[in-house]
Amino acid sequence: MRTKVAIIGAGPAGLLLGQLLHTYGIDNIILERQTAEYVLGRIRAGLLEEGTVKLLDEVGVGGRAHHEGLVHNGIELAFGGARHRIDMKGLTGKTVMIYGQTEVTLDLMNARKAAGLSTVYQAADVRPYDFDTDRPRLTYVKDGITHEIDCDFIAGCDGFHGISRASVKPGAIEEFERVYPFGWLGILSETPPVSHELIYNNHERGFALCTMRSTHRSRYYLQCSLDDHVDNWPDERFWDELKRRLDPKAASDLITGPSIEKSIAPLRSYVAEPMRFGRMFLAGDAAHIVPPTGAKGLNLAASDAHYLAGAFREYYDEQSSAGIDHYSTTALSRAWKAVRFSWWMTSMLHKFPDTGTFGARIQVAELDYVCRSKAAMTSLAENYTGLPF
Ligand code: APR
Ligand code: PHB
Repeated sequence: MRTKVAIIGAGPAGLLLGQLLHTYGIDNIILERQTAEYVLGRIRAGLLEEGTVKLLDEVGVGGRAHHEGLVHNGIELAFGGARHRIDMKGLTGKTVMIYGQTEVTLDLMNARKAAGLSTVYQAADVRPYDFDTDRPRLTYVKDGITHEIDCDFIAGCDGFHGISRASVKPGAIEEFERVYPFGWLGILSETPPVSHELIYNNHERGFALCTMRSTHRSRYYLQCSLDDHVDNWPDERFWDELKRRLDPKAASDLITGPSIEKSIAPLRSYVAEPMRFGRMFLAGDAAHIVPPTGAKGLNLAASDAHYLAGAFREYYDEQSSAGIDHYSTTALSRAWKAVRFSWWMTSMLHKFPDTGTFGARIQVAELDYVCRSKAAMTSLAENYTGLPF
């Protein structure tokens, strides 16, 4: 088998890259380790920057997002028992859209299927080879048979635990990492959201986030310890703890109900440099991870896919390697700004075990400053709604 671009991973990065390449007339194959149902079963964040929505429009899959997504003009920061609104639209002219990552993935999968593009699900033991030569190739096993794909380029869109980054020879990658001393316990419930915008709560008992998937489905998160377990959190305990961390109005407005999903995720910041190794390129979580505070993960996967697709287009249409030569620097420059922003939001909003009462007072001073200074608010809003790409 032969293709121009062999993509490993059918998450948002791989699927969007595949669709962009298809739009540009560049043939590609996606190899995914899991089934499509498994990929769609993963509950992830659900906040799209305008730039991400534009990319969905560019590949013709934005229709359902525009119809079902909720456009938000602002967010609220809560601390000291009161809520403070950041008017993102007023400050930057930009909004964000609430639309689940699962829905984005489904829309991209459907478009890929409708276009007749090749995706191999349950591709086991995917291995990239010879990407430091002009003739890279991949092997994978499907139904017990080993297959080989010759290609011009390999796109490693296979997430943090993927094979692409792991295939690079030791010493060729520099890694930057911060692991946070807490996790997020999240639940999904078929209840109306407590407020029409997101509320980020800094509380002495720990961070809490009120977000949503739709006008009738809510998503709530509580900061929890890393060794905690969902079995320790029956719904009643979750709702009680959430109420304790909300401002009085939100606590009394909160409508509770049975959870339909409950999970714990650790928080991590991670960047691998560079994002190019000869003819193999990393995109999305394969290259960088951000903590969920600010919901940048999916949006970074989208901007990487945009940069990479543009680089391949330049290569095929203009016989120029400039785009692929600059890809790593360009993508890392944007990724680091999102890494910084997510780290900053995380630092400002969570309870840290080692910073004590001094750290807690500094957080309140910072939150108070952010909510009073137009310059600080604008900086938050500019990063939250997404830096340009
Ligand atoms: N072979 C084939 N596929 C693989 C392999 C492998 N060895 N390893 C991983 N994969 C697949 C995974 O099963 C997954 O479907 O690669 C895909 C990677 O998808 P994501 O983890 O969703 O990563 P990405 O597409 O970069 O999207 C980033 O997803 O993790 C969230 O918060 C993150 O929202 C962000 C977004
Ligand atoms: C979510 O809806 O899951 C979400 C939204 C905003 C965040 C994190 C998660 O900052």
